[in-house]
Amino acid sequence: MARNDRLELEDIQATVLRYRPEPYYGTHVMLRVDDARAGRELLRGLAPHVDSAAEWRQPGEPWIAVAITYAGLVALGLPAESLNSFPEAFRVGMAGRSGQLLDVGDNDPAHWHHPFGSGEIHLGVSVFSGSEEAWHRTLETARQHYAGRPGLAVVATQDFGAQPGDLNPLGYRDSIGQPAIEGSGVAPLPGQGRPIKAGEFILGYPGESGGPLPAPAPGVLGRNGTYVGLRKYESRVATFNRFLREHAQTDRERELLAAKLVGRWRSGAPLTLAPEVDDPELGADPSRNDDFTYAGDPHGHQVPLGSHMRRMNPRDTKMALLTDVNLHRIIRRSTTYGKPYDPEALGDAEDGGRGLYFIFLSAKAMDTLEFLQREWINNGNFMSLGAERDPNVGLQEAGATFTIPQTPVRRRIHEIETFNALRGGEYFFLPSLSALRWIANLP
Ligand code: HEM
Repeated sequence: MARNDRLELEDIQATVLRYRPEPYYGTHVMLRVDDARAGRELLRGLAPHVDSAAEWRQPGEPWIAVAITYAGLVALGLPAESLNSFPEAFRVGMAGRSGQLLDVGDNDPAHWHHPFGSGEIHLGVSVFSGSEEAWHRTLETARQHYAGRPGLAVVATQDFGAQPGDLNPLGYRDSIGQPAIEGSGVAPLPGQGRPIKAGEFILGYPGESGGPLPAPAPGVLGRNGTYVGLRKYESRVATFNRFLREHAQTDRERELLAAKLVGRWRSGAPLTLAPEVDDPELGADPSRNDDFTYAGDPHGHQVPLGSHMRRMNPRDTKMALLTDVNLHRIIRRSTTYGKPYDPEALGDAEDGGRGLYFIFLSAKAMDTLEFLQREWINNGNFMSLGAERDPNVGLQEAGATFTIPQTPVRRRIHEIETFNALRGGEYFFLPSLSALRWIANLP
C-alpha cells in the first residue's frame, strides 16, 4: 500500500474492524427523522461517542455504530449533488431491488415486518458490548440523544445476543470466517487467506482491481465510509429440528447432517479438520478454527460443495463458473435475537420470534449481495449442482434437494425446506467520523 493510502483508522468507525465480542450483547435502534435539524442535532450529539477503528484493540469494550439509509440522507437534507452521487441500488433500497436479489415468494418484501422496506428507517444506531452492564450504560448514552426529541421517532428497537455459548438461532457458533484487511493493523488469523485490499471494504482506497471503488461526493462524505447490508431472518427452528430427525436416526447422525449443511459442526469446528467427529475445542479456538483450504477435498466428501460456508467462500475450490473469490468477500457483524436455540422445539409455534440480523459490510455491498443471492445462494451452477440452493439461506421450492457427496454413491436429500425466511432488509451508508460531523453541520 502506498504511503498516502495508509488507512485513516482514526476516521473509520470502529465497527468496521472490531470483531463481535464473546459473549455479546446489544441493541439496534431504528429511527425516523421528521425534521432535518433534529436529525443533525442527533448526529452532532452522537458523533463524539462513536469509537474509531484506531481503538479496535479493546474487543470487550462497548461501541456505538451509526448508519444512514438513503431515505435518511434525504431526510437529513443532503444536497442533491451528494444524493445523486450514491449508487442506484442504494438509492432504491433493498426492498426496491427485490427482483435483482431474488427476494421473491415467501421472501418478498410483502412479507417483511414493519418498518422494513417502508421507507421509515432513516438511521440505525447500534450498540455492541461484551458485558451486560456496559451494554445498558452505552445504550443509555445513545438514548439520551434521541429519546423524546421532537422531530425524531424510534420506529424499531431490537435487543440481540446473550445466547448461551454464543450460538445462533439454529444452534451454530457463527461469525468465524472473516477476511483479513490489508493495512488495517489487525493481525491476520491463520487460514484467513491473503489480506484483501482495503478498498473492497472502505471507500477511498485501492480495491482488488487496482483503483478505488466509486464513492459518494464530496470527498469528505465518501472517504473512509462504507456500506452495510442488513437482512432480518426469522429462523424456523422447529422445521429445522424436524428435518434433522426425519433424515438422520441418531443424535450423532443428526449433528453430522447439521454440519454437512453448513460445513462446520455446530461447535464451529470445520469439517475439513474434523471430518468424522466434532471437536468443540477446535471450534472455539480462533487460531485454528478457520485454518484450512479445500485442496484435499475437491469433490466435497468432507465439506459438501453446496454447503452454506463453501458457497459463501469457496476458497480454493475449482468452480464450474470461474470468478475471483476475493472480489466477493464480506465483513460480517451478524446478531442473533429472540429465544435461544432449543433442540426439542418441534411445534410450528416455535418457528417465530427468533432469528438473525445478518449484517455485512462492503464498499460495494449492493453489488456483492446481488451477486451472492443470484449466483451462489439461489443457484447451483457454479458448483455443478444445477438448481440446488444454499441449504441455509436459499429459498427452497417444492422438491428442493441437497446433495452430500460420499462414496460409493452420493446422498441426495429431498424436500429440504427454507430454514431462514427473510423478514426485512435495508442498505445503510456507514459514514466516517468526519462525514458524520459534515452531515451534522450541514447549513
Ligand atoms: C439466517 C441467516 C444465516 C445464518 C444462520 C448463517 C450461518 C452461518 C454459519 C453457522 C456459518 C459458519 C461459521 C462462520 O464462519 O461464521 C456461516 C458462514 C458464513 N456465512 Fe452465513 N448465515 C446466514 C446468512 C448469510 C448470508 C445471507 C450470507 C451472505 C449473503 C452469509 C455469508 C456467510 C459467509 C461469507 C460465511 C463465511 C464463509 C467462510 O469464510 O468460510 N451468511 N454462516
